Amino acid sequence: MAGFLDDIEPLKAAALVDFAAATDLAGLEQARVNFLGSNGRFTALMKKLGTLPKEEKPAAGKAINMAKEALEAAFTGRRSELELKAALPKEPTDFTLPGRRRSLGKLHPLTQVTEEIIRSFRKIGFVVADGPEIEDEYHCFDALNTPADHPARDEQDTFYLATPSEGAQPSCLLRTHTSSVQIRVMQKQSPPVRIIVPGRVYRRDNADATHNPTFHQVEGLYVDRNVTVGDLKGTVEFVFEELMGPETRIRFRPHYFSYTEPSFEIDFSSALTRKMGKEWLEIAGCGMVHPQVFENVGYDPEVWTGWAFGFGIERIAMIRYGINDIRLFYENDLRFLKQF
Ligand code: DAH
Repeated sequence: MAGFLDDIEPLKAAALVDFAAATDLAGLEQARVNFLGSNGRFTALMKKLGTLPKEEKPAAGKAINMAKEALEAAFTGRRSELELKAALPKEPTDFTLPGRRRSLGKLHPLTQVTEEIIRSFRKIGFVVADGPEIEDEYHCFDALNTPADHPARDEQDTFYLATPSEGAQPSCLLRTHTSSVQIRVMQKQSPPVRIIVPGRVYRRDNADATHNPTFHQVEGLYVDRNVTVGDLKGTVEFVFEELMGPETRIRFRPHYFSYTEPSFEIDFSSALTRKMGKEWLEIAGCGMVHPQVFENVGYDPEVWTGWAFGFGIERIAMIRYGINDIRLFYENDLRFLKQF
């Protein structure tokens, strides 16, 4: 018995020294195996417990268990220290260096302009409406009183989609303007209507500084009783002043669109256009909704009147920010995008 008890302390002390001396996790594991592994020195001593006389076993067992607990505690303590050490940077760290900032993302300039346009129209009671980018000829053209021989319907100007079988109806296309959503909304709801429709449109244009086959428009439609050109002009004036600054002026020039009568093109003039060396710049198309369009959606043209307009968002953004090439919007070059 005396021999057994006398062996415990020196063995424990030797193990504690080795644990403390380990400089990495592998070394510590080796020390653990040497003492506490199944063939370890401490384990060997524990196995001897069975050979002791019965009356000595309780005291001896207690002593060796306490020693074992102490060793296990020392082992886990040292392991935590070494794990922490392993996780620390190898090089010395200068905590006084400025931190690395994550740069904040931003909305695309086209999205910013679109949201501003929406905000202006919301102030005067308009809601946002949406429609499909893959449209059928009826909603894109026929219902808008646009005859089959109109150039907008030409293969050269429009992206038609392959139809399952030749001559299948209706033939589908990528919408050439957001005006198709006028029809979809009026088919679904009864008047009055007060909507704006921001959205993507497609035309067979070659990309150059002012054209891109994909671009964005905002459509507006207002239907109620006794709506006048004066309402249209006042509304457009309000929104453009908000977008382009308080000294913005607009003028209407007679034009032709098949879905409005009378129709106009809108020019505007502001500090921005003068900066571009022009007094007036054409910016949008508009007019009073053609009675035939009302007939097509089941509104009584004797009762209901309305106006509509459409303009390109890129155009507005280019003038506002002084951008001279439309393609910059689509290149996703952060050096460009960060400026807005
Ligand atoms: N859809 C026309 C275009 O893409 C713009 C337009 C003109 C929209 C007159 C209208 C409108 O609603 O009344 O060029």
